[in-house]
Amino acid sequence: MVMSQQVIRCHILFASIALIGACSQGKQTDSKPEHGETASAEKDSASETKSSDQKEADQAKQDASNPTYSVPELVSKLTWTAEIANNQNNKVFSGYDGTNSYKILIDIAVFGDLPPTIKVTEEQANAVYDSPEYLAAAAVEAAKIKFTADATLVSTKLSEEYDEGRVFELTTLKAGSGMAKASWGSTEIPLAIQVTAYTAAQVTAGKQRYETAVAGATPSAACATCHRSATGIDHSPYYMAQYTDAVLLSTIETGVNSDDNYQTKSPHKMTFATAAAKAGIVPYLRSLDPNLLPSEQK
Ligand code: HEC
Repeated sequence: MVMSQQVIRCHILFASIALIGACSQGKQTDSKPEHGETASAEKDSASETKSSDQKEADQAKQDASNPTYSVPELVSKLTWTAEIANNQNNKVFSGYDGTNSYKILIDIAVFGDLPPTIKVTEEQANAVYDSPEYLAAAAVEAAKIKFTADATLVSTKLSEEYDEGRVFELTTLKAGSGMAKASWGSTEIPLAIQVTAYTAAQVTAGKQRYETAVAGATPSAACATCHRSATGIDHSPYYMAQYTDAVLLSTIETGVNSDDNYQTKSPHKMTFATAAAKAGIVPYLRSLDPNLLPSEQK
C-alpha cells in the first residue's frame, strides 16, 4: 500500500539521513519519547507539579511493586496523541496553473506514550510498539481522525487508512489562501493553506531544467541524475509542501534550508542556465504527484 510505503520512507529517512521536515529531528520528537525510549526523561518535569505529585508517587509505588508487565497491560496504559506527520510548520504550500494538477498529502498519525510512572526497559518498550496489540489500539484511535479544508480552495479526499493514521489528499482548485483543520477527538490542529499562481510554461521550464545539466562557468548536473535514481531523495510535495517557494529555491541553490536549518551533505548548490528555468523549478516540484517517489515520476 502506498501509505505504509510512505511511513517506512519517513522512518528510513529519519534514521539514515536525519533529513527533511517531517522526518527530521524537530519539534515532533522533542515533546515525546521515541519508540524504544523509556519515558524517564519526563520524570523530572512531572515532579515539579506538586499537586499531581502524590497521585503519581502512589501510582509509581504500585507500579514498582508489580514491575513485570505484559504487553497487553502496557498497551492499555498508553496515552495517545495525534499529529500531522509530514508537516511541522502548520502551513502548506502548493500551486495552481489551470493546466497541471497540484496535490498535497496530509498524513495524520497517532502515537501512544507510556505514562512517566511506568518504567520499562528498552526491550519492553520495543515489544509494545512492535506488538499487534499496539497496532490494534492505534487503529481504534486512528479511526477518530478527521480532516476538513476550505472547499473553494482545494478538494479533499481520504486517500489512505493505515493502522496508525489517515492520509488526506488535497487537490488545488485555484490560487489563494485558506484554512484546513485536522481533528482527533477534542484535539484540533489548524493548518494554513497557501496556493500560489503559477503558469504551465513555468512548469515546462522547470521540468526541462530538472532533466538537463547546466554547462558553462557554473555547471551542475541534471536533478534527475540523482533524484530519479533508485536511492534518490524524495522531494515530492509529500514533504516539500511545508516549505515556502523561497525556502525551497534557496535549499536547491545553497544547500541550506532556512526553515529548519537543515544543511544538505551533498553540498547542494545547483545552478540555472536561464531565469525561466530558475523560476520554474519550484512550480515543477510542486506539480509532482506526492504519492510517487521521484524515481516513479513520469
Ligand atoms: C549530485 C546529486 C544531486 C543533484 C544533481 C541534485 N540533488 Fe537535490 N538532493 C540530493 C541529495 C543527496 C539530497 C538530500 C540532502 C543532502 O544532501 O543531505 C537532495 C535534496 C534535495 C531537496 C530537499 C531539500 C530539503 O529541504 O531537505 C530538494 C528540494 C532537491 N534536492 C531538489 C533538487 C533540484 C530541483 C535539483 C536540480 C536543480 C537537484 N536537487 C539536484 C542530491 C542531488
